[in-house]
Amino acid sequence: MCGIVAYVGERTAYPILIKGLQRLEYRGYDSAGIALLNGSTHVYKCKGKVRDLEELSKDQDISGSVGMGHTRWATHGAPNDLNAHPHRSMNGKFFVVHNGIIENYAHLRKELNNRGYRFESETDTEVLANLIENIYLEQAVSAELAVRLALTRVVGAYGLVISCEDEPGQLIAARKGSPLVIGVGENEYFLASDATPIVEYTDQVLYLKDEEVAVIRRDQLDLKNLHNDSKTPDIQKINLSIDHIDKGDYAHFMLKEIHEQAVTIRDTFRGRIAMDESKVFLGGVLDVMPQLIKAKRIIIVACGTSWHAGLVGEYLLEQYARIPVEVEYASEFRYRDPILDRDDLVIAISQSGETADTLAAVRKVRETGATILGICNVAGSSLSRETDAGVYTHAGIEIGVASTKAFTSQITVLTMLALLLGSKRQVLSSDTYRELIHELIQVPDKIEEILRSEKAIAEIAAVYQGATNALYMGRGLLFPVALEGALKLKEISYIHAEGYPAAEMKHGPIALIDEQMPVVALAANDQSYEKMVSNIQEVKARKGKVVAVVSKGDKAIRKMADHVIEIPDCHEAVSPLLAVIPLQILSYHIAVMRGCDVDQPRNLAKSVTVE
Ligand code: AGP
Ligand code: GLU
Repeated sequence: MCGIVAYVGERTAYPILIKGLQRLEYRGYDSAGIALLNGSTHVYKCKGKVRDLEELSKDQDISGSVGMGHTRWATHGAPNDLNAHPHRSMNGKFFVVHNGIIENYAHLRKELNNRGYRFESETDTEVLANLIENIYLEQAVSAELAVRLALTRVVGAYGLVISCEDEPGQLIAARKGSPLVIGVGENEYFLASDATPIVEYTDQVLYLKDEEVAVIRRDQLDLKNLHNDSKTPDIQKINLSIDHIDKGDYAHFMLKEIHEQAVTIRDTFRGRIAMDESKVFLGGVLDVMPQLIKAKRIIIVACGTSWHAGLVGEYLLEQYARIPVEVEYASEFRYRDPILDRDDLVIAISQSGETADTLAAVRKVRETGATILGICNVAGSSLSRETDAGVYTHAGIEIGVASTKAFTSQITVLTMLALLLGSKRQVLSSDTYRELIHELIQVPDKIEEILRSEKAIAEIAAVYQGATNALYMGRGLLFPVALEGALKLKEISYIHAEGYPAAEMKHGPIALIDEQMPVVALAANDQSYEKMVSNIQEVKARKGKVVAVVSKGDKAIRKMADHVIEIPDCHEAVSPLLAVIPLQILSYHIAVMRGCDVDQPRNLAKSVTVE
């Protein structure tokens, strides 16, 4: 979704806002804008990226020690200059930046039209700006009260920063459903959609909660809820450092994050496996362990790549914990009338912890009394606060829109969870428990080995960078990896790609095979190997091009595939963690060769906090 940055203090706001927007640009980048408050308010905004905003504003009056900025992911109104934020109320009393959707904006806009308000943009945000102003002028109340009264009229989600011309030196922040973090400095405050623009200034932060409103001046922060009840700020220390959010020597965040995966998987299981490799500890689930042990069914809800991780989890939890599992798209589950009861365990998987559909699915489950676990990568995120318990993936901040290290960390957590539950439910032998733990511990070194073959994979990418379509196929635990590989390719290179269970090819997709169709076949040395050999032969018989991911030393497939990428031999339970790495690298290099914006693919945003 969008990125919000704001500052009130003693420094010049402009460079803080611009650099902050650059750090948040991965969240949404249709347009960008800033407002600088220095006596009067100067607004600079335009379609395009933050660099376009810099070009527009650099020779203008950029003074002021209070300001706000926004990078937009359009929901209402095309990405253009007029719809860019900040939005100004009609009489110029209020300026607003907004992350989220005002669902009843049309009704409110009509009401305001009838009161003489006219609109410049097509956005729902401008409606809110005028609603606040109308209340402020008609009821002659403070800016903060006008904001609270307006928000009680709003249906939808918002992360907001608002300024009032009559109350200089002050910012008002409010959230419901879209994240806002407040950084606490010495005589200065920073606001942002996540902590990345804040970490270089302070490690003291406050995560605004739903329906909280903060009134901020450089030396004062007043926190309350929509009903004017004062709230005590819960200020926390974050352990995010600046080098986590720089590309370093890498051309793109995505490439950096692909290469971090040996470290991030180690970080994810560190402290969670006994020194003698005999058992797993997941402190975050201890409080609900009785419910986990007696769960009759597990329902996994997630979106996108996290949903693919959920599919891997399904195979692992059924195989090793012997619990029936259903994996649901959160966006579908939330609108169904699912049959759940207290013996069900729901696992919500989300890298950002802010995906609107996943949060909505969790809120729906809450009503049923089922136990809800979260697997999330962002401490303090909405998901981490709205689940009964959970396990953090220690992947570190993931900035590339295409998720890579978060995916493998999610699978690492799901693997540990499956083994832990299998042992606790006494359906997993201690020998197998120990064997699979040992296999998991060996994964990071094996990933390092695969990463060393990046150059060879890039050479294969060069052969297929001109493709218009691609198919990915796998079986068992590698079927979800085929889906993930296809998603990586399509979301960063814009090549149409689909993943299938390999056995499904003969039920339709094989009609697509011709000499123009590259097929990525995941054929590790597992129980499906012979079947995968047949599938590859079926493709070759129809002149398809095959890129096969095989276990090291494979000889049979090397004779039939057009290209072969080897991964170290491993137990099939951990094969998804290895098999996905070549697919990430392949899609990255194809996208780069096609001149695509790898870290900020068109039409996408890192965290989809709208429905
Ligand atoms: C993955 O590469 C995509 N960026 C997208 O599918 C993403 O996984 C999805 O939006 C879910 O995000 P979440 O994990 O933050 O909930
Ligand atoms: N709904 C608002 C708009 O379309 C905000 C979108 C966003 O979160 O970036 O401008």
